[in-house]
Amino acid sequence: MQKLMPKRVEKTFQGSMTTITQKIKELITTELNNTVKKHSTGTRKAKILAVCSQKGGVGKTTTAVNLSSALVKFYNKKVLVTDLDPQGHVEKSLSALIEEGVDYKPLSDILLARHGQILDGVVKTKHENLHITPGDKTLYETEGQLASKIGRELILFNSFEAAKTHYDYIIIDCPPNLGNLTVNALCAADYVVIPCEMSVLAFEGVSDLLETVATINQRLNKKLKILGVLFTRVDGRNISMNSLVEDNMRKMFKGKIFKSQVAVNTDLNKSQLEGEPIFDYAPHSTGAANYKTLAGEIINRVGEVKNKAAKTSSDPAVLN
Ligand SMILES: Nc1ncnc2c1ncn2[C@@H]1O[C@H](COP(=O)(O)OP(=O)(O)OP(=O)(O)O)[C@@H](O)[C@H]1O
Ligand SMILES: [Mg+2]
Repeated sequence: MQKLMPKRVEKTFQGSMTTITQKIKELITTELNNTVKKHSTGTRKAKILAVCSQKGGVGKTTTAVNLSSALVKFYNKKVLVTDLDPQGHVEKSLSALIEEGVDYKPLSDILLARHGQILDGVVKTKHENLHITPGDKTLYETEGQLASKIGRELILFNSFEAAKTHYDYIIIDCPPNLGNLTVNALCAADYVVIPCEMSVLAFEGVSDLLETVATINQRLNKKLKILGVLFTRVDGRNISMNSLVEDNMRKMFKGKIFKSQVAVNTDLNKSQLEGEPIFDYAPHSTGAANYKTLAGEIINRVGEVKNKAAKTSSDPAVLN
C-alpha cells in the first residue's frame, strides 16, 4: 500500500527534484563541454591515411614515419602520426626527436574514455609540424576491451574530431592484424595505403584485407578508398620475382599500384634504430629519395581521388 503525500510536502519535494534534475543537467553539460570542446577548433581539414597490412614486417612503420616526415619537410604540411600498434614502433623510430619525460595521455586511455580526444595524447617532436600519438603495450588489452563497447568501430573516428581541424594529414600506423584497432583505423580513415613486399608471401592475407575494406566501405565508412599499394624493400636484382609479384598485384589492384617504390636500403633500417627520420639520418640515401617521391605522389593522388569521387556518386573502394 502506498500513502499519499500531504500537498505541502509534495510541493517541496517536487521543487527539490526539479533543482536536482537541473543541477544534473548542468553537470553533464559542463562535463561534455570540458571533454569535447576542451580543444579549440582549427582551420585545417586533415586527410586521414591508414598504413595497413596484416602481414608483419612489410614496412608499415617505416612508411608511416618517413612519409610523414617527407610531407612536413618538402611539402610544408602539418602531420600527426598515430601509432595504433601496441609494439610502439613509431615512438621508437622518432625517439631522437622527442624529449624524454613529456606528459601525454596514453592512447589506450583515450580510446576507452567516453569522449576521448586524440589531441590529449599528442607528443611534439623537434620538427615543428611533426607530431605523434605514441602507442604502447596497454593497447593489447585495449584491443580486447573495445570488443564490449557500443559503437566500438567508430571510437577512433570520434576521437579525431578536434585533431582533424589542426593537421593537414593524419597518418595511422596499423598493427599487423585485422583486429578491432585496425578496424577503427579503417573507419576513421579516408584512404588506405598498403605496403607490400616483393615476395610470393606478399599475397598472403591480401584478399582478407580487401574483403575487410569492402565490408567497412559498405557498412561503416563509405568514403574509405584504397589509395594505393606500395612496393617496399624492393631488391632490383630479383627481376623475375619482382615482375611476377607486380603483374599479379596489378591484376588485383588495377590502377592502384604506386609508381614510387621503396628499394632495400640499410640506411632506412639504421635510421629507425637511431630514432630519426631518413631525411635526418641519411638525407642523400635512396631511402630518402624514395620516400620524398612517394610523398609527392600521395599528394597528387589524394587530389586525383577527390576529383574522381566528385564525378561519381557511388565509388567502389578501389578506383580503376
Ligand atoms: N626499404 C627497406 N630497406 C631495408 N630495411 C627496411 C626497409 N623498410 C623497412 N625496413 C626494415 O624492416 C623492418 C620492418 O619494417 P617496419 O617496422 O617498418 O615493418 P612493419 O610492417 O611496421 O612491421 P610490423 O608488422 O611488425 O609492425 C625494420 O627493421 C625496418 O627498419
Ligand atoms: Mg610496425
